[in-house]
Amino acid sequence: MARKRALTGIQPSGVPHIGNLKGMIEPALQLQETHEPFYFIASYHALTSTKDATLLRDYQREAALSFLAFGLDPDVTSLFLQQDVPEVCELSWILGCHVNTGVLERAHAYKAARDAGREINAGTFNYPILMAADILIYDSHAVPVGKDQKQHVEMARDMAAGMNHRYGAEIFVLPEPLIKAEVATVPGLDGRKMSKSYGNTLPLFLPPKKLRKLVMKIVTDSKGVDEAKDPGSCNVFALYELFATADEQADLADRYRAGGLGYGHAKQALFEAMDRFLAEPRERYAELSADPEQVDRVLAQGAEKARGIAQHTMSRVRGAIGLGPAR
Ligand code: AMP
Ligand code: TRP
Repeated sequence: MARKRALTGIQPSGVPHIGNLKGMIEPALQLQETHEPFYFIASYHALTSTKDATLLRDYQREAALSFLAFGLDPDVTSLFLQQDVPEVCELSWILGCHVNTGVLERAHAYKAARDAGREINAGTFNYPILMAADILIYDSHAVPVGKDQKQHVEMARDMAAGMNHRYGAEIFVLPEPLIKAEVATVPGLDGRKMSKSYGNTLPLFLPPKKLRKLVMKIVTDSKGVDEAKDPGSCNVFALYELFATADEQADLADRYRAGGLGYGHAKQALFEAMDRFLAEPRERYAELSADPEQVDRVLAQGAEKARGIAQHTMSRVRGAIGLGPAR
């Protein structure tokens, strides 16, 4: 039986971080065993916030390197840049003509920008429509994402169902978000969600010294060394759980509860577990960084496959809604 398609994207709006890795990249790469994956760099989405050509190019590269350094197999997974499949913009327009603005006004990301009094460009307002086009154009079944993207995937599903209903045809597959409970929201240095836009991230490919420096900045409560501490409410411990073995976690949790363990020591343990985990991907990242043509080839090959599918979907969509011959 044909494998179901998995699709996800990452915005090149900053350097990829541990939240991206644990919330999305790792779960997405696991689907290589069971699905037909299409993973892309959401450059058009990043354009809603990033208006610096050099930075945008650098961040696209970093995102591609991150997938590859953590084990993306280009023979299994199509990795590509969003702009290499311009058909998504066409589908985005078509979907937009079928969505009420009230739906977009309920999007968390838009509401957060509005409540913070930030200026909102039309791209930001229309963000969920373009994201729905990304998902629907590849007939995606599974969309591995962190919890913050759940609403967007549900909106895509609603748009698909609405179109199928209106035109009385199975135009689109109804997608499902895939969210791993234990990594749904990875905390950042300040305890809020780790996010490029909060400046509270642990980037994936820092040299060990710089990584350690950042780990030492993680915010904790002000309990002294001797006091007993609660691992369940500590950011350092929450991150430790993502990198340490079960035995190591149990051991550190006991030391938290017993008292006599300072947060500096807990942070050192976290740094060591992270550094051990990141050592090999860091090497792979360095190799790939030195061979940009190889990365370009992977992206070109992925784009070609993705675009073929997108063009096929678009002729089905055009036919169904009257922009092309009835099929
Ligand atoms: P973004 O960096 O916003 O493009 O996010 C790329 C993917 O990483 C999305 O699926 C997000 O849900 C996920 N992600 C980003 N930050 C976190 C976080 N702190 N915890 C869990 N998942 C995250
Ligand atoms: N909005 C997603 C994020 O910020 C990125 C994205 C764009 C995406 N299009 C997508 C994710 C389609 C999944 C499917 O993380």
